[in-house]
Amino acid sequence: DAPGIRFELKRSSNPVPAAERAEALSHLTFGTLFSDHMAVARWSQDRGWHSAEITARAPFPIDPASSVLHYAQEIFEGMKAYRTADGRALLFRPEENARRFNQSARRMAMPELPEADFVAAVEGLVAADQDWLPEGEASLYLRPFMFASESFLGVRPSREYIFCVIASPVGPYFKGGSKPLTLWVSQNYSRAARGGTGEAKCGGNYAGSLAAQAEASTKGCDQVVFLDSAENRWVEELGGMNLFFVMADGRLVTPSLGTILPGITRKSIIEMASAEGHIVEERPYSFDEWQADAASGRMKEAFACGTAAVVAGIGTLRHAGGEFTIGDGQVGPTTEAFRHKLVGIQRGAAPDSFGWTR
Ligand code: COI
Repeated sequence: DAPGIRFELKRSSNPVPAAERAEALSHLTFGTLFSDHMAVARWSQDRGWHSAEITARAPFPIDPASSVLHYAQEIFEGMKAYRTADGRALLFRPEENARRFNQSARRMAMPELPEADFVAAVEGLVAADQDWLPEGEASLYLRPFMFASESFLGVRPSREYIFCVIASPVGPYFKGGSKPLTLWVSQNYSRAARGGTGEAKCGGNYAGSLAAQAEASTKGCDQVVFLDSAENRWVEELGGMNLFFVMADGRLVTPSLGTILPGITRKSIIEMASAEGHIVEERPYSFDEWQADAASGRMKEAFACGTAAVVAGIGTLRHAGGEFTIGDGQVGPTTEAFRHKLVGIQRGAAPDSFGWTR
C-alpha cells in the first residue's frame, strides 16, 4: 500500500463563538448550518494526492473554465456522526462510504482516494469540530465530495481534482418530522438507464431528479418515485432514498441493484432484517404489483431509507390515475422498529452487535 496522506490540522483562527454556536444548534433544520472546519486534499496527475489538511471552512477560488462547471465530474457521499449519551462521537460504517466513493470515482473517470485516507479525513474533521456534534436525535451530517478542478474545455477526464469534507449539524430531513410520507409516481421522468450513472453517487443524478421532485411538490408530495427508463414499470428509488416494502407474511421486498444507488442504510436494513429471520427479497418490483399488493392487504407497510432521512414511513402513493394508501396510511410498526433499532446502534444507545460503529 502507498503511504497515506496526512491531513494536517490547522485550526480556524475565527471559529463561531460558543454562545452563537449553542444558539444555532438549538433549532436545527437540514443542511443550512455548517461547522468551522473542512478537510481538503488535492490530486494532480503528476503528484497524486497531496496538500491534505483540515482547515478553516472557506470558499474555493474557481476558474470559470474548471471542468466540473462544464462536464460535471463530481461525486459525493452522505454520512453522519452521532453523539452518544456518554459524550463520544460515533461514525456509522464509514468504510462503506469510502468504498462506494471509489466506485463512484471509477464510474466518473476520477482518481480513487485510498479508503484509509477517506476515513482519516472524516475522523479528523469530526475531531476538529466535535463541539458541533448536536445532542439527542440530531446529528452531524458529513458531506465528502470530489470535483474536477482543471481549467480545460476539452472533453476528457480532468487532470486535477479537489477532495473535500464539510460538516453540517442537522435535525430531521423532512419538515414533517416522522409524519408518513406522500409520494408522487413520475410518469414523465426517469432517473437512470442501464449502463448509465444510476449506481454512482454523482451530483448529476440529483440534478436530473430535481424537475421530477418539483413535479412531486406541485402534487403535494414529499418525494418522487422513479420507475425504470426502459419500460416505465419497475420501481427504482426516490429522489434521494431507497425503498422497502413490508409484506403481511413478514417478508421484505426492495428493488435490486443495477441502476439505483447502493444505499448503506439499505444494505444495513437488509443485514439487520436477515439476522432477525425476515426473508428479504432484492428483486424487480413493479408499480402494478405495488398497487395490487396495497389493495389486497398483502403489503402492510412501505418505507424510504437513506443516511439523511434514516427510515421514513410511507402513507400514500399519488400517481396520474389517482392515489392509494399503504396499510392504514400511518407509519407501521415494522418501519418504526427498524428505525428505532438502527438509530439505537448509530447513537450508541443499543449494543452494536454488527460492529458497525467506530
Ligand atoms: C443522503 O445522505 O441520504 C443522500 O442521499 C443525500 C441527500 C438525499 C440529502
